[in-house]
Amino acid sequence: MSQIAELLIPWQKKYGRHHLPWQVNDDPYTVWLSEIMLQQTQVKTVIPYYRRFIKRFPDINSLAQAPIDEVLACWSGLGYYARARHLHQTACKIMQNHQGVFPQLREEIQQLPGIGRSTAAAIAVFAYGKREAILDGNVKRVFTRYFGIERYPGEPDTLKRLWNLAEKSLPGNGAPGRIKAYTQALMDLGSAVCVRRKPFCSRCPLQKSCAAFNENRIALIPAPSPKKQLPVKETVFMIYRGNRQLLLEKRPDKGIWGGLWCFPENRLEDKSAFRVNKARPVELPRLLHVFTHFKLSITPFLLDVDRTETMPDSIIWAQPDVALELAIPAPVKKLIKRHFLF
Ligand code: ADE
Ligand code: SF4
Repeated sequence: MSQIAELLIPWQKKYGRHHLPWQVNDDPYTVWLSEIMLQQTQVKTVIPYYRRFIKRFPDINSLAQAPIDEVLACWSGLGYYARARHLHQTACKIMQNHQGVFPQLREEIQQLPGIGRSTAAAIAVFAYGKREAILDGNVKRVFTRYFGIERYPGEPDTLKRLWNLAEKSLPGNGAPGRIKAYTQALMDLGSAVCVRRKPFCSRCPLQKSCAAFNENRIALIPAPSPKKQLPVKETVFMIYRGNRQLLLEKRPDKGIWGGLWCFPENRLEDKSAFRVNKARPVELPRLLHVFTHFKLSITPFLLDVDRTETMPDSIIWAQPDVALELAIPAPVKKLIKRHFLF
């Protein structure tokens, strides 16, 4: 019997989270949606998006029927928009190939767009009570510390070892409640107790048998990535304002923020929607946005212009509060909230 499971399950029942909005039922749709939203995103950020999304798209079919623009608008501000595109593709695929029923096996779930092994396992556990191991970033930290593995978890050999340990640590076959409590416990421990800096070992149920704690090696584990820092790219956002409305341009479908409404980068090619008057551009404070593979340093310029009657297809003028309801990337949302909402 796995010791880690025996320690974690009773701890979860007493100290873990039980009232998150996606824990109220085990509907595979809401389990799937929440797991996707929770990738790279904290619970407190996800909750309002989750509620809104469920209201607008209450089931797989309504999501599959919706135009992608509406799905993106509902996702707008959460970031990592590939997740929303994959969600929509998956919904369509499930309606077409699986008679609208979400698959049950981890191996099948893993075949769906944008779902890796750990997310597939989490869905199989929470929706169907399957005995599967998760290994997200937080859980890697818990396992490397508990087993005293002073390595960078991204290394292929270390990753393989961690997956083996994750499988060996699962609770034995038992009531489905046990694997759910165990999995939730790992997530809760990783996000609230075994945190990256200064973990709360005094409150940790694993303390007695934790190698990093016993050997005083917490600060060394997990070892940091040997990779260098993310490169920084520079860009300019041109915020054209006419008649209290802001100009937004639809980005090409490919590339970052594909298909989202954005302030024109650097300068707008097609200037038929306005005439430049005597106003000067005003430089606004810079904004740093972190992507997976680089950081983007954005310098926004605000320019008041005189609007014309012309409206190219890829351009709209929107009142700031209306713009916030459109499919816009997080930095655009931040800039609007920071400078144009009163
Ligand atoms: N992170 C990923 N999945 C989660 C879940 N189901 N509950 C809380 N945090 C999570
Ligand atoms: Fe993490 Fe400390 Fe618990 Fe070990 S004892 S698992 S380092 S919180």
